[in-house]
Amino acid sequence: LARNETDQRFIVVDHPDYQAILALYGGHLIHYSNHGSPLLWLSQSALLDGSRPIRGGVPLCWPWFGPSPERVGLGKPQHGFARTQLWTLDGISETAESTFVHLCLSDNAASQALWPHAFELELTLEIGSELTMLLTTRNTGASPFVYSGALHTYFQSQAPEAVQIQGLGNTYLDQLQQKRPTQEASFVLDKPVDRIYTEPDSRIELDTGLARLQLLNHQADSVVVWNPWQAGAAAMADFDDQGWQTMICVESAITAPDGIQVEPDEEHSLGFTLRRAP
Ligand code: BG6
Repeated sequence: LARNETDQRFIVVDHPDYQAILALYGGHLIHYSNHGSPLLWLSQSALLDGSRPIRGGVPLCWPWFGPSPERVGLGKPQHGFARTQLWTLDGISETAESTFVHLCLSDNAASQALWPHAFELELTLEIGSELTMLLTTRNTGASPFVYSGALHTYFQSQAPEAVQIQGLGNTYLDQLQQKRPTQEASFVLDKPVDRIYTEPDSRIELDTGLARLQLLNHQADSVVVWNPWQAGAAAMADFDDQGWQTMICVESAITAPDGIQVEPDEEHSLGFTLRRAP
């Protein structure tokens, strides 16, 4: 792979110490590794042809998280449309430590049909021995709008029993039980999980069995943890049948029912820094 090679669909960052591959479809980071070990999970049966959201990496859920809320109109695509639109490369630059990539997406006929608001989205990545992703929502219209969303990161893990997560807080909404508020003292991955942790620390400690990581969230109001387990994975055509055993989603999210209101000419950013624990 050539360093920072760009074609019409993918941006490849290849440095001796870190590597990344970013799809313009969805503004979707599909690979990130540092010092030789890949940190993100990508389904082997993910479709990369722009026909459906890419299964793995860091999908961008925006301008809503999960099923479309009432304020948007029910029955619209799950997790919004940012992950199924073609983003534009706005620039690549480098310092001694990192490569910076900027992508952008603005409202267009397809987005207006789903969500009638004028916006500019900017995705900034700082790729180095740490990874920072910042998704900035700018309101370019004349009236306020409300958004929610997530950087829906799929982490590569060694095995379910190896996964340990700290900093989630003890309270979650169980999406497998109609969002029932639930308390749990510590996280154990031994069954399907689809949980919205509503009182997380801003620093999540994640041991994947392959790496000890810190996820530092920026302006997230919640952290979503998801593993579909065997039957859930089998029901998804683009999810490897065995893949659930080596992945865990830990998502930096805005899920509050009221979302975030963005005034005209104002902006709001959601993001994270991912680094190895010292
Ligand atoms: C998670 C949700 O964030 O994404 C789950 O909490 C959902 O409910 C999962 O199943 C995957 O969603 P999708 O649309 O990519 O299959």
